[in-house]
Amino acid sequence: MSWGLKDRVERVMKGGRTVMLAVDHGYFQGPTTGLENPRRTITPLLPYADSLMLTRGVLRTSVDPGQDVPIVLRASGGTSILKELSDEVVTTSIEEAVRLNASAVAVSVFVGSEHEKETLSNLSELVNEGERYGMPVLAVTAVGREMARDARYLGLACRIAAELGASIVKTYYCADFRKVVDGCPVPVVIAGGKKLPERDALQLAHDAVAEGAAGVDMGRNIFQSSDPVAMIRAVRGVVREGKGVDEAYASFAEGSARTLPAR
Ligand code: 5RP
Repeated sequence: MSWGLKDRVERVMKGGRTVMLAVDHGYFQGPTTGLENPRRTITPLLPYADSLMLTRGVLRTSVDPGQDVPIVLRASGGTSILKELSDEVVTTSIEEAVRLNASAVAVSVFVGSEHEKETLSNLSELVNEGERYGMPVLAVTAVGREMARDARYLGLACRIAAELGASIVKTYYCADFRKVVDGCPVPVVIAGGKKLPERDALQLAHDAVAEGAAGVDMGRNIFQSSDPVAMIRAVRGVVREGKGVDEAYASFAEGSARTLPAR
């Protein structure tokens, strides 16, 4: 592994931990609730994100250059919620990622789905090209509509992604999550998934880290929160400061109370 690749992984995951803010949802969902105006959503959250996962379109239009946040560039896509989700191609080259000063690229793999082979090929292509430039690849173990989110299936998907050379793997939290982490020789981060009550989302982050996750790559549970800034700070408390759920939730509730409009 080249020094450049190791350095980039360390930027994304300082000290082996990360609160990655995922705002790439529009690449297949369009104007997702809470992300209708990406700049407005992203700007106040940036100071609290260890890294930012997004497409080049949103990076170019909605994030000012010179921000001190490592970029994880979404490099796969080409389909929408109206079609078969696994039918993805590589949309952004490693050379473009270097031009955009990205610290990693992200690609979805749909193990067990119709286009499993093509998505694993997308991952391999980016890993091969990434090795030439010292660019790490984050594999997103995307789950087809018909797939179970259990340790057996997610463990399979994570392990395959690591075997093909991903430097970081993103997956979903599940029962027996420790098995997923133990079977994956590279760091695992969890997606938040659909919006949950804030306390439940903090519990999810807490349990994942307690069972070996290196952190979160969280989107909707932050930017769809009633108070996104208070929520990302509470998530940081859990992931980076070892706070328990009660303490982190209390900090969220306090942050929220402070920002409530006066009556
Ligand atoms: C989609 C993604 C999203 O970034 C991911 O789902 C994370 O966001 P959320 O916490 O909202 O699930 O990679 O494929």
